[in-house]
Formats: sequence, C-alpha cells, structure tokens
Amino acid sequence: MTVPRFVEAKRQGRKLSILTAYDFLWAGLLDAAGVDALLVGDSLGMVVQGKRTTLPVTLDEMIYHAEMVVRAVKRALVIVDLPYMTFQISPGQAVENAGSIIKRTGATAVKLEGGVNQAATIAALSAADIPVMAHVGLKPQSVLKLGGYKIQRDAERLLADARAAQEAGAFAIVLECIPRGIAKTITAELAIPTIGIGAGPDCDGQVLVTQDMLGLTGNWSPKFVKAFANLAEQSRRAVERYIAEIESGEFPGNEHSHA
Ligand code: KIV
Repeated sequence: MTVPRFVEAKRQGRKLSILTAYDFLWAGLLDAAGVDALLVGDSLGMVVQGKRTTLPVTLDEMIYHAEMVVRAVKRALVIVDLPYMTFQISPGQAVENAGSIIKRTGATAVKLEGGVNQAATIAALSAADIPVMAHVGLKPQSVLKLGGYKIQRDAERLLADARAAQEAGAFAIVLECIPRGIAKTITAELAIPTIGIGAGPDCDGQVLVTQDMLGLTGNWSPKFVKAFANLAEQSRRAVERYIAEIESGEFPGNEHSHA
C-alpha cells in the first residue's frame, strides 16, 4: 500500500480499513489479515501503558512502538501519531519530529490532531514531502480544553477544519465522534479519503482500536465500538484451564515432555 493507492481507493469507491497496532506480533497478524493501513496511535498511552489520557505519550515511545510495527508489516501503510506537544509549538518543530519518526522507524506517514489551527503545520510537513493525515472532530489531545471525550457537533467548524486540512496538503483525514450526517457532507465534499471513528457509515473508511474491536479492553466501550470477538473472555478461560491442568498434573503430558 502506498499513499497514492490509499487516496485512489476513494475514487474507486473502495472502502478503506485501518486498525491500530503497537507491536510486532499484532502488526504481523493484522497485516496478514489484509487491512489497508496500521495506525500506531498515541492511544497506546491508554491501551498499552494504562494511562488516563494520551497526553503523557512521548516521541521516543511512539518511535519505539512504530519501529516494531514497521518490522512486521509486509503490505499495509504504516501511519504514526505525532504525540502531544511534538507539533503544536511550531511547523518547524513538527517537521523535525515527523522527520525523526520517518527516519528512525521506516513508517510512511504521520497523523496529527488539528484542522484550521494546524493548517500551517500540515502545509510544512507536506512541503517537506512527509505524508500527513489530519484528525478532526473529537481530538483526544484536546481533552483538557474540551473537559472530556464528547461528540463534536459544530458542523460549520468541522467542515472548515476538514477543508483546511485538505487545502494544506493532508492525504486523508480522520473524523472522530461526529454526527453521521456531518461526516457524510464532509466525505462528499473532500477529494481525500475520510476515515471515521464514531462518524457513521458514509466515510471512505473506518478505524478502530484493535484491542476494542477484539473485545480485549474492559467492560465499557464507546457506542461506536463493535466487538467482533470476545478475546478477553477467551483468554481468561484459557489461562484458567492452564492453571487447572498444572494443578491436576494433566499439563505437561508426555507429548510436551522430552524423553
Ligand atoms: O490514537 C489513536 O489510536 C487514534 C485513532 C483512534 C483514530 O487517533
């Protein structure tokens, strides 16, 4: 998968599938299953590190995880999040840090949260030939200002953000937690693919956190998450069986023992 092919999918009317990946094992599995792109999201701060927000994630941590993901991938596009305060200070800061990600991980593209407010930065990245995906709607790095993770409903502002990102040179745009009607309008207006998460079925593609869609993350998940499996329950049962078989002497049997 390349950036031009990713963008071309929209013209061809082919829906794009993206999942998050943070390590070698999962990246290999997801890539082999055929997803179009893997996002090394700063959601790793919550999913992998157990933190309450994505804000503490550092550039070095993103590079550490992205490098493992890239090593496993044979086909998918790998996109890496620019974490909090690695691009907000200036376009120059963004180019330097995004350049570091590309150089040190071998990933193909970066993602940053912002629209109108980050247009100059998206343009600077684009001018430096770094493919950039924008992210508008609910921006988790703005959680302090927003006072929580809330659905974003200001249609005018969302459309302005999406237009600004496209004009500045973004090759695609994530729409997070916005009403499906607004996502449909934005998708119809833009030439670049829209990738929805909690933005309804009319986007050009979808992204979910892998651990959410596999039913690995806790008892609560947002309305937009569909659990396609219940791996938490299956894993718990497997571990309980392992413990029971050790206690009963059933494991290891002859077939698992050296003569
Ligand atoms: O960090 C992340 O995983 C993301 C996606 C959920 C869009 O930004």
